Amino acid sequence: MRKIIIDCDTGTDDAIALMLAVLSKKFDILGVTCVAGNQLVEDTADNTLRVLDFVGSDVKVYKGANGPMYPEIQEKRREFVSEGPIFYTDDKGEIHHLHPRHLWLPETKRKPEDKDAVDFIIDTCLNSKEKITIVPTGPASNVGKAIKKNPDIIRNIEEIVFMGGSVNTGNITETAEANFFNDPDAIKIIIDSGVKCVTAALDATIMAAIDVEKSNKLLDSDNKYLKFFGEIIKWRADVEYHLGWADGINEPLHDPMAIVYMIDDSFIKCVRHQVSIDTGVNPESGSLIVDKGIGNDDFWIMEECDKEKYYDFITDMFSE
Ligand code: RIB
Ligand code: CA
Repeated sequence: MRKIIIDCDTGTDDAIALMLAVLSKKFDILGVTCVAGNQLVEDTADNTLRVLDFVGSDVKVYKGANGPMYPEIQEKRREFVSEGPIFYTDDKGEIHHLHPRHLWLPETKRKPEDKDAVDFIIDTCLNSKEKITIVPTGPASNVGKAIKKNPDIIRNIEEIVFMGGSVNTGNITETAEANFFNDPDAIKIIIDSGVKCVTAALDATIMAAIDVEKSNKLLDSDNKYLKFFGEIIKWRADVEYHLGWADGINEPLHDPMAIVYMIDDSFIKCVRHQVSIDTGVNPESGSLIVDKGIGNDDFWIMEECDKEKYYDFITDMFSE
C-alpha cells in the first residue's frame, strides 16, 4: 500500500481530498501535516482534525508553517495579487468565507501533536523502509523547509503529488495559482531537488468543475459523506458567485484531484514537462515556467480531466 503524508490547509476542498484519501482505503496515511493558507495553521489543523474524526480516522496531525518561507519577499509579491478578499458579508452581517475558519462539522476532542510538521516529515522520510509520497494541497512551505533542513530526505521520497500551479490560467494573479504563488520559494526548493513531481493544475481542476445542480441533489442524501460533499459544493459555489469568480453553475473542486489521480488516472491527461517557477517580484511571480529549458524535467502536469468521471469517481467513493 502506498505510504503517504498529506500536507494541507483545510479548507473546503482539502476536506474532500482528506475524506477520499481515508475512505478509499488505498493509502497508508503516515500523518497529516498542516500549513497556513486558507486559514491560519491553528485553524487548518482544527479543520483537519474535524474532517478526520468525521471519517473515523485517528491519523495524527502536525502543525507547521504559519506563513511562507520568506515573508518579506512574499509581501512584495502580493502587490501583484488581483484577487480581493475570499469572503463576502451577507445582509445580516454574517461572513461567508470560501474556507470557513471552523468547518460545520462537530468539534474535535483531539489536538495536534507537539512535534512540528517539518520535523515529522524529515523523521518519517529518514526512518521509513519504503519510499513515501508527499501530497501538498496547500502552500508547500512545510515540504520546502523540510528539504532545505535535511536534503537527505529526497532519497526516500517516491514523488510529490501537489494540487497547485497552472499552465494557461491563474486564480490569484493573471498567471499564478494560489498554492504555488503563496510560497514559490518552497516550490523552487522542491523542483530544484530533482524529485519527481506531479501536479493537479488549475487547467484540469477548472475543466472538471462540479455541476452544481447535480450536486445539490446530494443535500437530501442519507449518506453523511455525500450530503457533506453536496454542502461543500453549494457553499463554495455561493461564495465564488458572490465574489464574481464562478458562475454558480459549475464549481471547481481543486484538491481532491491530487488524491483521485493516485487512485485512478484513467480520465486525467497528465503530461511530462521541464518546469521551474518564477520567484521574482513581478506580475508573473509564483507562475510556472514550462518548457523553457530550465528546471526539473520529471515534472508532470495534469492538464485535462473528464468532468463527469471526476464527479462520478468522488460520489462512488463516498457511496461505498
Ligand atoms: O488554488 C486552489 C488552492 O487554493 C486549493 O488548494 C484551495 O484549497 C486553496 O488553498
Ligand atoms: Ca488547499
